[in-house]
Amino acid sequence: MNIAIDGPAGAGKSTVAKMVAGKLDYLYIDTGSMYRALAWAVLDQGLPIEDESVVSKLLKENDIRLRRVQGEQHVYWNNTDVTEWIRTPNVSQYASVVASYASVREQMLILQRNLAVQGKVVMDGRDIGTHVLPDAEVKIFLTASIQERAMRRWKELRDKGFDPNLAEMEQEIAERDQRDMNREVAPLRQAEDAILVDTTGMTIAQVAERILEICERVGESSQ
Ligand code: CDP
Ligand code: CDP
Repeated sequence: MNIAIDGPAGAGKSTVAKMVAGKLDYLYIDTGSMYRALAWAVLDQGLPIEDESVVSKLLKENDIRLRRVQGEQHVYWNNTDVTEWIRTPNVSQYASVVASYASVREQMLILQRNLAVQGKVVMDGRDIGTHVLPDAEVKIFLTASIQERAMRRWKELRDKGFDPNLAEMEQEIAERDQRDMNREVAPLRQAEDAILVDTTGMTIAQVAERILEICERVGESSQ
């Protein structure tokens, strides 16, 4: 069985996908980290983000790899571990720009499908149920109100010792969601056969529980 989890920023995809993968002993794959690594490299090298051919060539000529390091997934740009550098608001915005390019998505699709060939993966992103793993046995579309998603991200940064501005975070997330939903190639949308889980007001444990129940049901009905 493969499990696809899609949804907007701050819906809880990566936190919950990691828990579900841990419970089922599946491999967790965070596809957003791959777009983030590419965006980081564009910034790091001072390349023009608005030039699709430059960004696409950069991806073609370099390697993005996911590796497990002490039980956690790390993302590498060639031999450099960039995991710690890809979560800034700047990289988030750049990630959704590079993710709007067809030639970038084509390459990412191949990389991501290769990561899932052995099965038993929980993959999260924006287009997993619709494009990357259209045959996934379980498809979940996670969402929550924009206020709650912004608040979750705000708390996350505050707990790391930053002093974030809630209104700015809400604005940043709303902008990124709009870009992700309105791009021409593989926009963020719920697959027809995905189950919608609105996590507004739900704890992480409750969401994980709900998804595990869905997996169990699907597993039983396929026997
Ligand atoms: O991957 P995605 O952007 O969808 O969200 P995330 O990074 O998994 O979650 C964003 C933040 O919300 C994290 O700090 C989670 O701990 C928190 N969260 C929460 O408070 N309640 C939930 N039901 C889900 C996530
Ligand atoms: O954690 P958060 O939900 O904020 O973002 P992410 O999952 O790390 O993804 C960062 C950006 O990459 C998104 O805003 C999308 O533009 C893009 N992305 C995508 O287009 N397709 C995916 N499968 C995963 C991410």
